[in-house]
Amino acid sequence: MSSIRYYKRDSLPLEMHKVRIVQKLNLPTLEERLANVSEAGNNTFLLNNRDVFLDMLTDSGVNAMSDRQEAAMCTADDSYAGSETFVRHEKKLKEIFGMPYVLPFHQGRACENLLAQILVRPGTVVPMNYHFTTTKAHIMVQGGALEEIIMDKGLEVTSSDPFKGDMDPDKLKDVIKRWGVDNVAFVRMEAGTNLIGGQPISMANLKEISGICKDKGLTLVMDISLLADNLHFIKTREDAYKDKSIREITKEMVNLCDIVYYSARKLGCARGGGMCLKDSATYEKFKELIPLYEGFLTYGGMSVREIEAITVGLEETMDENMINQGPQFIEYMVNELDKRGIPVVTPAGGLGCHIDAMRFVDHIPQTEYPAGALASALYIISGIRGMERGTMSEQREEDGTETLANIELLRLALPRRVFTLSQIEYAIDRINWLYDNRHLVGGLKFTEEPRILRFFFGKLKPVSDWQERLAAKFKEDFGDSL
Ligand code: F0G
Repeated sequence: MSSIRYYKRDSLPLEMHKVRIVQKLNLPTLEERLANVSEAGNNTFLLNNRDVFLDMLTDSGVNAMSDRQEAAMCTADDSYAGSETFVRHEKKLKEIFGMPYVLPFHQGRACENLLAQILVRPGTVVPMNYHFTTTKAHIMVQGGALEEIIMDKGLEVTSSDPFKGDMDPDKLKDVIKRWGVDNVAFVRMEAGTNLIGGQPISMANLKEISGICKDKGLTLVMDISLLADNLHFIKTREDAYKDKSIREITKEMVNLCDIVYYSARKLGCARGGGMCLKDSATYEKFKELIPLYEGFLTYGGMSVREIEAITVGLEETMDENMINQGPQFIEYMVNELDKRGIPVVTPAGGLGCHIDAMRFVDHIPQTEYPAGALASALYIISGIRGMERGTMSEQREEDGTETLANIELLRLALPRRVFTLSQIEYAIDRINWLYDNRHLVGGLKFTEEPRILRFFFGKLKPVSDWQERLAAKFKEDFGDSL
C-alpha cells in the first residue's frame, strides 16, 4: 500500500483487499436520532446498533475477517480436551511470538483478572505507561495500586513525536526506589496505548525498560492487544526497523518481555484472548486457574471456530499489507480534520481518530463531560457512534468528588478493513459542520450513575435544551438531507 505512488493526485490510502460480503446500513432520520440518543441516556453504549449508521464505538470484536479466516472456521475440531484446533493454535503462537508457553483466555480482561490475582498483593504497585479501564479495575480489586509513568510527551495532545506511548525510564527507577523492588508486582507496557489515542511505543524504549526490569529482577508484562498497529508504526517510524520484517519486529519485541497477553477481539481480528509466557513456574500458576475461570486448557472459554480464526488472523498480522489499512485510514482522517483546524490527537495513532473534546467544546466544564456531550451531539447530527474517553470513563472518589481525566477524548474507532474512504469522508464532513456549530453543544449530567465502570450503563441528560437547538440548526443548513 505505502509503496504506491499516484500520477496526478496526492497520495491516498489504497486497500490491498477487496470486499466480498456486505452488510446493509441504516441511517435514521434526525428526529429518530434525537429520540434514540435521549432513550439511550446520552450514552452511546446504550444505543441499539440498528439505529447507528457508522459504528465507531470500538475496534473490538468488529474487525472484518478474511476469507481464509472464515474458511478455517469450518475446519474447527470441536472437542472439550485435546482439540486439534488448539494444537494448531499453540504451534502458531509459539512460532510467531517465540515463547514456550501458551494459554487460552476468553478475552483480554480475563488475562488481566488472572495476572492481578496471581501477581498483585495489597500494598503492591504496578507501574505502567498508561492504564486501560479493565486493567486498572482488576489491579484495584486485588488491593494493588497503579503508577502511570508515561513520558510527559504522551499527554501532549498535539505533537509530532512518533512514539507518545513510551514509558519514562527515570520515572520507573523512581517508582522502584519509592515503593521498594519487592512491592512492585510487575511492570506493564501497553503496545500501543488505548486511552491516550492509540499512541505506539518504540522498540528503543521497550529495550530500555526491559533492561531496567532485568536488572531489578522484575517481571515485564506487555499488553499486545493493539500490537498490529504498533508493529506498523515501528516499521514506518523507527529508522532502525524500516528494513526488518513484521515477523522479526514481533519476535524482538516479545523477546524483551516475560509475559505477553492480548484481546483477540483486536489482535487477530476475531473474538477471544491469549497469553504467552517464558517461565515454567509462572506458567504452572496460571495453568491451574484456567479451568476454574475460563474452560479447559485447550479452549479457554473460546469457541473452537474463533480459535481457528485467531490462528489465521495472527498469521495474517505478520503481513504488512493486511495490517496497514487501519493506521493509514486513521492517518488520513486525522490529517484531513487537522487541516480544517479541528482539534485532534496528533500524530495519528492506531485504533481510531481521537478528537480533543477539551478544545472542541472548550466552553463545557469537565464536570459536565465535554467528550460525552460531543459523542451525543455527533450521533444526533450524523448517526455516527463514537465513545467517550474522558471524565465519564473515570470513577468518582470515595467522597463523591469527580476524578477529572487528564485528557477528554471522543474516540472514533476505525474497525480494521470495515469502512470505505467515502464513509470516512462523510464523517469528516459532519465533524466539520459540528465544529463550525460547536457553540450550540452543551453539557450533560448523570441521572443514573453506577458505582463501577459507570460509562457502560450510566444515563445522562442535557443540562439545557441544546440538543433541540442543535437539531434545528442542522435542519436549517441541510434541509431534508439525512
Ligand atoms: N487491553 C487493551 C489495551 C484493550 O484495548 C482492551 C479492550 C483490553 C485490554 C481488554 O480486552 O475487551 O478482550 O476484554 N479494549 C476494548 C476497547 C474494550 O473498546 O477499546 P477485552
